[in-house]
Amino acid sequence: GKGAAMVTAVAYRLTDQARQIQETLAEFRLSKSQLLEVKKRMRVEIERGLKKESHKEATVKMLPTFVRSTPDGTENGDFLALDLGGTNFRVLLVKIRSGKRRTVEMHNKIYAIPIEVMQGTGEELFDHIVHCISDFLDYMGMKSARLPLGFTFSFPCHQTSLDAGILVTWTKGFKATDCEGEDVVELLRDAIKRKEIEEPEFELDVVAIVNDTVGTMMTCAYEEPTCEVGLIAGTGSNACYMEEVKNIEIVEGTEGRMCVNMEWGAFGDNGCLDDIRTKYDQAVDENSLNEGKQRYEKMCSGMYLGEIVRQILIDLTKRGFLFRGQISETLKTRGIFETKFLSQIESDRLALLQVRAILQQLGLDSTCDDSIIVKEVCGTVSRRAAQICGAGMAAVVDKIRENRGLDHLDITVGVDGTLYKLHPHFSRIFHQTVKELAPKCDVNFLLSEDGSGKGAALITAVGCRQRELEAQ
Ligand code: GLC
Repeated sequence: GKGAAMVTAVAYRLTDQARQIQETLAEFRLSKSQLLEVKKRMRVEIERGLKKESHKEATVKMLPTFVRSTPDGTENGDFLALDLGGTNFRVLLVKIRSGKRRTVEMHNKIYAIPIEVMQGTGEELFDHIVHCISDFLDYMGMKSARLPLGFTFSFPCHQTSLDAGILVTWTKGFKATDCEGEDVVELLRDAIKRKEIEEPEFELDVVAIVNDTVGTMMTCAYEEPTCEVGLIAGTGSNACYMEEVKNIEIVEGTEGRMCVNMEWGAFGDNGCLDDIRTKYDQAVDENSLNEGKQRYEKMCSGMYLGEIVRQILIDLTKRGFLFRGQISETLKTRGIFETKFLSQIESDRLALLQVRAILQQLGLDSTCDDSIIVKEVCGTVSRRAAQICGAGMAAVVDKIRENRGLDHLDITVGVDGTLYKLHPHFSRIFHQTVKELAPKCDVNFLLSEDGSGKGAALITAVGCRQRELEAQ
């Protein structure tokens, strides 16, 4: 009768809906051959960045860092470190002691950087940073100690020495004016000088500018000498590794190795990933502060995963598959799905009711069915992120293996970042992908503890030692 026909119609609508949702998500499910293709393309871009004639146009910049070795345990002294560009801005005091019992003691304070400052003028940004350093020194009761300072500045910088770095472009949420194309060490020194006018005892010696990937690698290498790669899977995504100097054509010399900051977040900016980018990735890009840039990063880092999810949810809602077809103000809000929420939603320990509670907390009224769909969307997006990140890493470790003419390579990767540390599945899927795509490498992953602070101090220690040698 009529009732049966209606039931059939409803059932049909449901299966049709399920099919359409699956079709939408299918684009995010990459096959092994697609991932191998990502690995291959990363390798091509690595070579472009390293070669002199292609370096200028290269999207993966392969920036020299002037860090020529990992720590050897003889590093010693008290250092200040700044950490700008991750989840928090911090000032740190790091005391490194060498000898039989090596120790590293750290004190740090987190400071807010208001959005007006992040996106204001460069002078305001650097004055704010120096103001925080001054506050920290007061807090530690060490105002007049003239300490060497290492500046972890987690953005692409063209370095010509350990203590000079021209900002190539802002990434992530930063957009302060008059900084791109400038040496950020000079910008910091200028701000310190402005402060000295007010407070003559305020003196600092900026010794090194450090990318967070490099700090992470150095921190892990301090404990584990086989660590020659650094990875950040956090707000942004990037890696560094020890490359042969002879392969870094824009650096003079042919001897030894130097750490290269890959800036792999920009992978794909020349269109080479267009076949796997979805319309949701494009929407995220169009909505961002840096349209057309950091396309790989926008597919695999914490700052953007939630945005991809949000774009998919908006689309599914428009098509009537979610939230009773009603697009709420919440869903229109940029940045609502932070890494910590995605991590909670995807946690296996959470019952669906709890997923609904999280959505409720975000201001989204969901039915039980909605919450199942949302969870699946999150899982699909973060799986792809972990896989393409793994494909990039597979290219790196295989490159190192080939550099050394080995059939088999054992290597350690130092890792940091909120996505890697907080997300319930990211690290596992990432490891698995590296293993599958680089079968000739045995890759060991080591979590870095406070790489940005400790690593900057270790590099500063090495920098001070080099200076003393040069002065002799
Ligand atoms: C962005 C920055 C890069 C940094 C990464 C992780 O990709 O450009 O320098 O290492 O984020 O913080």
